[in-house]
Amino acid sequence: MTESMDRRDFSRATTAAAAAAGLSSLGPRALATAATANTTLPTRELGKTGQRVSMLGLGGEHALSKPENDAQAEEIVQRALDLGITYVDTAQLYFPSEKYVGQGLKGRRDKVFLTTKIDPRDPEEAKPLIERSMKLLDTSQVDNLNIHKVRNLEDVERITKKGGLLDLVQKMKDEGVTRHLGITGHYTPEALIEMMGRGDFSFVLLPVNPTDGHHLPFLAARKEARKRGMGVIAMKVSARGRFFKECGVQRMDDLLTYALSQDVDVAIVGVENVAQLEDNVRIAKNFTPMSPEDQLRLETEMKPHTSIGNFYKPGGAGWLD
Ligand SMILES: NC(=O)c1ccc[n+]([C@@H]2O[C@H](COP(=O)([O-])OP(=O)(O)OC[C@H]3O[C@@H](n4cnc5c(N)ncnc54)[C@H](OP(=O)(O)O)[C@@H]3O)[C@@H](O)[C@H]2O)c1
Repeated sequence: MTESMDRRDFSRATTAAAAAAGLSSLGPRALATAATANTTLPTRELGKTGQRVSMLGLGGEHALSKPENDAQAEEIVQRALDLGITYVDTAQLYFPSEKYVGQGLKGRRDKVFLTTKIDPRDPEEAKPLIERSMKLLDTSQVDNLNIHKVRNLEDVERITKKGGLLDLVQKMKDEGVTRHLGITGHYTPEALIEMMGRGDFSFVLLPVNPTDGHHLPFLAARKEARKRGMGVIAMKVSARGRFFKECGVQRMDDLLTYALSQDVDVAIVGVENVAQLEDNVRIAKNFTPMSPEDQLRLETEMKPHTSIGNFYKPGGAGWLD
């Protein structure tokens, strides 16, 4: 936006453009959340589970995946619960995150929706790792087990072949190891959309930030998930902190409010310390949905940072494979 452009003119122009582009929207959950008084951390309905959870979730990476960081990690998990967070994300790959989460949840396991993830596509390799996850998390059942990082269509074929990882996780669900199954990914939306039709998945975890619409957007995957009644969980809200460190963006308020204004149930954010966690809780408590005009303004302002903001997609800054 140019300095001289009148704010109201910009709003009018952007509303029309937003509607035309279909980029900005106000999720129904965002509107419903705004109607509640935010003296406590607001909750949203989680997919079709019939359960409500805090719309801010705790990410299991960052401070929670650093080795020998037991004290800080445990403090973060416990503080998150004290502040009203009831959705906790972790993964086998973030070792030792599951151990920290298990320690932090001691005596309070029933207070959170606990979700973890499995990576290896070979079921022989995956099974003992899932068993290890349960031990580290100190629980007999997780609420959701995600197939982690669904990359592309070949990966979908690998996961869903007879006797493959999907069969294993489905069996584990049947045995009660997990209440739900989910998928996650941040490479290409097509892979997630294809996977949605291949199994009984309750959730998808995918990127949501103001640059997503400018490069291989995940919006279609979000919409497909909703058509199927799946819960939608947002990640990459701050592009892993890269918006702050590499783009000079200062405002977590805008980024988290933007993510929560989309049609998502929960936004999970990783933190480096308790202060960041408390800051994110403050933002979620003060949440009022960002207008479509302001969403589009942010998307437009952040367009120069598209490569960083999509670093995890093919063609993004730092994409590795
Ligand atoms: N494929 C997958 O399934 C997948 C992949 C990656 C992550 N995840 C999950 O998603 C969670 C979030 O990861 P992400 O990659 O999406 O990262 P993110 O949440 O976008 O970024 C987290 C980083 O943002 C910065 N930050 C957070 N709150 C802040 C605040 N209030 N003020 C300033 N900076 C703040 C911190 O980085 P600095 O302090 O370093 O700036 C923090 O480490 C992970 O913890 C993990 O649970 C899933």
